[in-house]
Amino acid sequence: MNQRDLLTGERAAAGSRVLASLSDFESEAEARIPHGAWARVSGGAADELTLRSNREAYDRIRLNPRILVDVSKIDTRVDVLGQELPFPIFLAPVGGQSFICPQGEILSARGAAAAGAIYVISSSSSCKVEDIARSGSGPVWFQLYVQKDRAFTRDLVQRAEDSGCRALCVTVDSPVFGARNREERSAGELPERELPNLKGRDYLDPGLTWQDIDWLRSFARTPVLLKGVLNPRDAGTAVQAGVSGIIVSNHGARNLDTLPATIEALPRVADTVAGRVPLLVDGGIRRGTDIIKALALGASAVGIGRPYLWGLGVSGAEGVARVVEILLKELQLAMALTGRPTIASIDRSVLWEL
Ligand code: FNR
Repeated sequence: MNQRDLLTGERAAAGSRVLASLSDFESEAEARIPHGAWARVSGGAADELTLRSNREAYDRIRLNPRILVDVSKIDTRVDVLGQELPFPIFLAPVGGQSFICPQGEILSARGAAAAGAIYVISSSSSCKVEDIARSGSGPVWFQLYVQKDRAFTRDLVQRAEDSGCRALCVTVDSPVFGARNREERSAGELPERELPNLKGRDYLDPGLTWQDIDWLRSFARTPVLLKGVLNPRDAGTAVQAGVSGIIVSNHGARNLDTLPATIEALPRVADTVAGRVPLLVDGGIRRGTDIIKALALGASAVGIGRPYLWGLGVSGAEGVARVVEILLKELQLAMALTGRPTIASIDRSVLWEL
């Protein structure tokens, strides 16, 4: 896409306003999405200290560029779990997207496919997993909330695999949900959620343990990743348990407030895991420079949550694709300007040691 097309696309998406960055999408989405839905998209747990840290921790890290490196070709390709991705960005699972627009997940998956990014289907989606999986032509993974009814859970995993999901991300940071005060204050403004893939409204199992991970691995036909690891000790146990990958995440700061930012936890987890399984990270990624920082500290790929919801709220599937494209463009610029033309050339030396 050339510069002119970029401008036209953005103007078309937002009337006359040019949306040049993800934060432009954020303010545009806030103006368009009803108040209660906005509280759900943007809120975090309790005093939202971790929500702020997820961003501020990236802003504190400085980059260390190399000059006179040939950056005439920038190659963002990366291999994750044997799957070659054109760039290291995936769309993190977000449930119940009908609160933003009907068919929310279907449009998000379509936007991800148009941009070439993996879309992780939430098990608490407001559309059926089969319908989301076939809505775009792109790769999809599945996020699982293990249900108390294990037979039902097993069927759900098989449905996801039969629909073409290529990996299983088991969310392990949510025995219960946190105190989402901002969302609670406007609770009456949102309709009750549709959960067509889950059994009942009480869909978390606080009794989940490592034995259940063994059980899932015993029948899963796709790689099992744990989503929501922060403690390096847990990361070590996860590797020993035979998981295929780890997603360092604090659930977008929506569960336990005062947890560290994910970018603070990542290097410690990376030291423990020592390359034995791939690490992914999400939480607070808003710029291409954030992606470079996460890759430098040990991630193979990064996830975005809220930013694609902003895109969805502004202009549906097209907005989702634009958000990913802006981030990719920024990653390419950051790689060129730091003198790191390939993903493999991004290591800790790209970070300015204070
Ligand atoms: C989420 N997230 C989430 N995670 C998960 O494992 N299953 C889910 O159903 C949901 N649902 C969900 C809803 C909403 C409204 C948000 C904002 C987030 C967490 C998500 O996958 C991811 O970890 C964070 O959103 C990443 O942080 P950023 O990019 O939003 O800062």
